[in-house]
Amino acid sequence: MQTFDQLSLHTPRLLLRPLRAEDAQGLFDMFSDAEVMRYWSTPPWPTIDEAHAMIARDLNAMPAGEYLRFGLEHVDDQTLIGTCTLFSISSTCRRAEVGYGLASAAWGKGYMNEALTALLDYGFSEMKLNRVEADIDPRNHASAKSLERLGFTREGFLRERWIVDGVVSDTALYGLLQSDWKARQTSCVQ
Ligand SMILES: CC(C)(COP(=O)(O)OP(=O)(O)OC[C@H]1O[C@@H](n2cnc3c(N)ncnc32)[C@H](O)[C@@H]1OP(=O)(O)O)[C@@H](O)C(=O)NCCC(=O)NCCS
Repeated sequence: MQTFDQLSLHTPRLLLRPLRAEDAQGLFDMFSDAEVMRYWSTPPWPTIDEAHAMIARDLNAMPAGEYLRFGLEHVDDQTLIGTCTLFSISSTCRRAEVGYGLASAAWGKGYMNEALTALLDYGFSEMKLNRVEADIDPRNHASAKSLERLGFTREGFLRERWIVDGVVSDTALYGLLQSDWKARQTSCVQ
């Protein structure tokens, strides 16, 4: 069984590391922001209790290898600017789902591309995943663009899959295979 609580990954501008108690305020600032949560699978957080609960869940789930969630810490000032997660991990099918979010002040600077490149690299090479999926709101163009930039293919459209706070929305389902990822790495170094 793989465990994730001692794991961290480095990129030029970010440290990807497990969440810790001191992250509660940063998480709350992000997940209580209606703009960030516009297309999320839950409503904006009403209180900081949700942040404490997420950190507590991670402290149990990460050593158990249940899912892999990283906080994204900016190396310049150590602020928490987002999270990215591999979850719904199926060891039999070597498949996982990816989720990600950034504080709005950090959008449009390529941070998520940097974070997801490291996370996917880890998923495909160390976790030996064969397939990573992303379930996004089809109206979330920033998210779709981020996925397509990473080589994901839009594979499906699932009608009225979500009801969040009484609002019904569809799913655009994206997929990326280990073979897609490897082919891109090879073409990048040529
Ligand atoms: C979706 C989301 C994560 C995208 O994050 P992001 O960091 O802005 O996305 P990317 O890393 O793909 O980069 C986006 C932009 O940065 C630019 N960029 C790339 N590398 C860069 C660099 N080194 N320096 C500066 N800019 C850069 C890209 O050109 C791109 O610009 P463009 O969109 O005008 O072409 C972000 O909008 C978000 O958190 N949204 C709210 C939460 C959410 O919806 N999550 C997804 C749920 S499914």
